[in-house]
Amino acid sequence: MKFIFAASLVVSLNMVAQDKPAYKHKNASIETRVNDLLKRMTLNEKLHQISQFTIGRNDNPNNVQDELNHFNGLTGSIIYFGHDPVMRNQLQKKAVDSTRLGIPILFGFDVIHGYRTLYPISLGSACSWNPDLYRAACAQAARETYLSGINWTFSPMIDVARDPRWGRIAEGYGEDPYTTGIFAAAAVKGYQGGKLSNAPNTIAADLKHFVAYGMSEGGRDYVYSEVSRQSLWDTYLPPYIAGINAGAMTIMSSYNDISGTPASANKYTLTDILKDKWGFQGFVVSDWAAITQLIPQGVAKDDADAARKALMAGIDMDMITNTYISYGKNLLEKKQITQARIDDAVRRVLRVKFIMGLFENPYTPVVDEKDRYLQPEAKKIATQLAEESIVLLKNKDNVLPLDKNVKHIALIGPLVKDSVEMMGNWNGRGEGKDVKSIYTAIRQAFGQQAAIAYARGCEYDGADTSHFAEARDVAAQSDVVLMFVGEKWWWSGENGSRASINLPAIQEQLIKDIHKEGKKIILVLFNGRSLALTNVEPYVDAIVEAWQPGTFGGEAISHILTGEVNPSGKLDVSFPVSGGQIPIYYSKRTSARPTGRYQDISSEPLYPFGYGLSYTTFKYGVLQVSKQKMNRQEKLVASIDVSNTGNRDGLETVHWFISDPVATISRPRKELKYFEKKEIKQGQTVTFQFIIDPMRDLSYPDENGKRHLEAGDFYLQVGTQQVKFELLEGEY
Ligand code: GLC
Repeated sequence: MKFIFAASLVVSLNMVAQDKPAYKHKNASIETRVNDLLKRMTLNEKLHQISQFTIGRNDNPNNVQDELNHFNGLTGSIIYFGHDPVMRNQLQKKAVDSTRLGIPILFGFDVIHGYRTLYPISLGSACSWNPDLYRAACAQAARETYLSGINWTFSPMIDVARDPRWGRIAEGYGEDPYTTGIFAAAAVKGYQGGKLSNAPNTIAADLKHFVAYGMSEGGRDYVYSEVSRQSLWDTYLPPYIAGINAGAMTIMSSYNDISGTPASANKYTLTDILKDKWGFQGFVVSDWAAITQLIPQGVAKDDADAARKALMAGIDMDMITNTYISYGKNLLEKKQITQARIDDAVRRVLRVKFIMGLFENPYTPVVDEKDRYLQPEAKKIATQLAEESIVLLKNKDNVLPLDKNVKHIALIGPLVKDSVEMMGNWNGRGEGKDVKSIYTAIRQAFGQQAAIAYARGCEYDGADTSHFAEARDVAAQSDVVLMFVGEKWWWSGENGSRASINLPAIQEQLIKDIHKEGKKIILVLFNGRSLALTNVEPYVDAIVEAWQPGTFGGEAISHILTGEVNPSGKLDVSFPVSGGQIPIYYSKRTSARPTGRYQDISSEPLYPFGYGLSYTTFKYGVLQVSKQKMNRQEKLVASIDVSNTGNRDGLETVHWFISDPVATISRPRKELKYFEKKEIKQGQTVTFQFIIDPMRDLSYPDENGKRHLEAGDFYLQVGTQQVKFELLEGEY
């Protein structure tokens, strides 16, 4: 009897299973589900699926409720400006329960350096040279984001940038393609927990802005960028390869015009390279309104034309301009777009949603805010990453760390009592009330045994020197002066371009004025770009680059100033002598005459890429290579011993550079190919090793992306040492 019952049960379950459409079978393959769902969709449903809108930009409950009431549940994605999982689940329920096919929404948001717990801005984080720590930070950010109802971040931003006038240099990982690729991969794995999956507390990453946006002419945002095909492959595409290899399945197109073809209508980059050559299986979302911006960019005559050009070039999802919904049907009827392209775009979006498990788990678990944000693990990681991102640029006579017996400390500058500017741009759901100001942090660190005096001195900019006298009085009565200066959070980031990269004149003036009191001055900087510090460097004894260190930056800075933590940051971007040197970066091509120089200033930066001091000293041994000649099937093992010759433990990063002085095309004078950060205890010697792979480390791409590995002499460089080795002729 039992047998018959069991068999009939199987049959009936099977019948039920047969009733469920294939795309709802969680054990069916992703492609089976994608194709089954696609064939069930109407054109209107498809056009909505490749469109993204916003909800919650105005937190007024009436507005949001109104948006909810009008929401039809069909849109493929929403940029969710709320952070309430309940509201988000109501939106999702509309899509899942009240539409014909129940396709869940993909909720996105800009989580650039944290959601509520903020980490240093990315330009700072990469100065830690600690991708594992950075990955942990992104994993924490993913958890807070996921629990706020968002499953997709428009991050990491991986635009290689070499013009600090461009405000968005703050959002990336500096001037070097290799560094950018390493941190891109760390971010993707942090957000996604590895390959994209349905794992809880993970979110989909988004590589942006595709591509060469950092080349915006003159550092002005949204403009033309002149990029040779060879440079595209040599400098701007490698971080995307790293990010895709790490598992990223969404990419955002950029605003810039790439040598005459805007990135958001550029079939060569969006389709020929990304999808045809690389086989990218995810989807490309346009940047905000980038589709209709093709009109002012001079390549589309109206919105319909813009939609046609963007879709056919390879933009799979339209961010907020509604052009695919408005014009898709008509363009299809006029055969100006193809059904195949529409279906390909929809397929890509559905594929990501199925991989993320949104069909099985469309809703966000509702967790109290106190258990969602600012958790101990997030605080610990944010504090450590801020500490490791801080770069000690100057420390004359070892004025730092501060003497524990110091009795009178002056805190001067507009950032001493700040708690918002330290969070930086793109500060997500960060809140000033979570940030401990420098004033509080230093008082807590020294309050017991030192008198702390404060004067603001001046505003961020302007010409008001009326408070200089008060600041000088405070300095005069102190043993040491700590000055906290820099930029407002919105002086960098999107559309945050600045023609001058000096500190504002009023701040430079204040520093020089305080210098007249003859006290030791420690300058702490908060900024979203590399600065030209030539005007102030002679007037201060120490310079601490703190970037915009995030929620726990106050604690991190006090740990560095007191010596509780030994600084280990090194620059991921060159600090020019003056803006006149821009563009300036370490991997410039060689020149016909190395004597080529400015008549009025140096041709070298004030502080170069990779520069950063420690409270201890490190002595580098002799750079060794396993052989002088290598063939293409071999690897070459390079090593160097580094000793801690100072009086305290420290973390040291070794950067390994390769130069190729003679090749078919001119090569950068050197290129970073590997780095490693290790702890070296006082008196200890540690061996660093780099295993050179010929094709990976010695080849270069041509203008079509084909890699060339040419025999000849190469140089391996570490610090001031270099060793020559030869790559022999032969087949690879
Ligand atoms: C913005 C930015 C982009 C961001 C997007 C959504 O204009 O360019 O980085 O992700 O719009 O906010």
